[in-house]
Amino acid sequence: MSQIEDLFKKVTSHAKEYGFIFQSSEIYDGLSAVYDYGQNGVELKNNIREYWWKSMVQLHENIVGIDAAIFMHPQVWKASGHVDGFSDPMIDNKDSKKRYRADQLLEEQIEKYEKKGKTDKAKALSDAMNAALNDNNLVAMHDLIVEHEIVCPISGTRNWTDVRQFNLMFSTQMGSVAEDSDAVYLRPETAQGIFVNFLNVQKTGRMKIPFGIAQTGKAFRNEIIARQFIMRMREFEQMEMQFFVRPGTEMEWFEHWKQTRLNWHLALGTANTKYRFHDHEKLAHYANAATDIEFEFPFGFREVEGIHSRTDFDLRNHQEFSGKKLQYFDPETNSNYIPYVVETSIGLDRMFLLLMCSAYKEEEVGEGDRKETRVVLALPPQLAPVKVAIFPLTKKDGLPEKAREIMDVLKLSFRCHYEEKDAIGKRYRRHDAIGTPFCITVDHESLENNTVTLRYRDSMQQERVAIADLEKIIGEQTSLRSIFAR
Ligand code: GAP
Repeated sequence: MSQIEDLFKKVTSHAKEYGFIFQSSEIYDGLSAVYDYGQNGVELKNNIREYWWKSMVQLHENIVGIDAAIFMHPQVWKASGHVDGFSDPMIDNKDSKKRYRADQLLEEQIEKYEKKGKTDKAKALSDAMNAALNDNNLVAMHDLIVEHEIVCPISGTRNWTDVRQFNLMFSTQMGSVAEDSDAVYLRPETAQGIFVNFLNVQKTGRMKIPFGIAQTGKAFRNEIIARQFIMRMREFEQMEMQFFVRPGTEMEWFEHWKQTRLNWHLALGTANTKYRFHDHEKLAHYANAATDIEFEFPFGFREVEGIHSRTDFDLRNHQEFSGKKLQYFDPETNSNYIPYVVETSIGLDRMFLLLMCSAYKEEEVGEGDRKETRVVLALPPQLAPVKVAIFPLTKKDGLPEKAREIMDVLKLSFRCHYEEKDAIGKRYRRHDAIGTPFCITVDHESLENNTVTLRYRDSMQQERVAIADLEKIIGEQTSLRSIFAR
């Protein structure tokens, strides 16, 4: 196993062992590509969402938030193009009965050529694949798989079916009696809830263009190939913002949001070199520019966020399908128009995985006989699930009571943990592993002079501080303010 695969394996098992992520319905052997967040995971997830929400909504006076329902009128998905076009080209291997995304098989082959230094072959295949994707030519994709002798990783054979398109939307029935019920879809993106509410928000909020509407929430896709833990799930969460602009200004705003969103990532302290933009050559039919913000996961650079200039495609189609005007009167130009939209769309779960991968560290600590490896999650303190752990040195002499007293004050501001079991060193390690940035030890001196030992997760340094100063010290380093002020 390569060191890189090894790191990813460690991150996934750490996530389970420390209550971040569990397989859904695990006692029934799990449900594929569906995951539950545990007691620490939910805190980290909430903190990421809060960081996004406050950055987008609180810090921008021209952005407001909504929370639209998951179920929407079925016509929404016809208008958005999802009923006809939200599909992946799939191919089955007749021997293993396994199904693959045809474009991913080809991408993997291109990577193989590149690794072997066969750059001409890689380029030729890449060009041919892009042409086939552009023309939606499924026969050409099938022929490329055959021509390049791509084998099924399970059966090792080249016994392939034709390439076919599979729609990724889940549908269900709404209504009490099966015969009378209507098919509705589980939304595959949150964005459409924003588009259909564009005029409601604009009018009731008296919003002036340019302005944005933000939303976080669940989305569902029947991903055929679900791999790499929470990277590609069937139920996941998105954080999306649609920014409505005057037609003709969308490219300026596209550049603006590209940079603003990258800065949001970098403000968490992750190295610049771990990120890159991947501009789309093949644009979706509704877009006139698109880029992905990619992060270097242990298995390579992958998309975490998309920035898309979606023109007026969605609003125009909803206007046509609903028969309701979705126009804006611009007092500055004295004209009516359908606004253009620049969208920022990030997967909350993918951001979670990004943070876990970049935070997981194994470090040699101690000297001589006391040398050991500590596992530490060096999460940004502002996002850590638990901000402070409070330990009485012993279970007697009034130390637990003093520790509880401190906890009762700090818990009003921070997520705290109280622990009195095991030696202090063990308690430190447990909190290093979940990323707690501060540990407080209450000892006999605390009873005499109201001071405690404050221990910092990353440096493992300890200092004696007054109990009265704890809230300020911890607050300064864990509040989102400390990121926003950067
Ligand atoms: N409204 C635009 C849109 O949905 P997308 O590129 O399909 O665009 C945006 O999705 C983001 O949602 C991706 O960058 C990714 O972070 C996340 N995402 C998409 N599909 C996902 C899945 N199956 N599992 C987890 N996250 C996913």
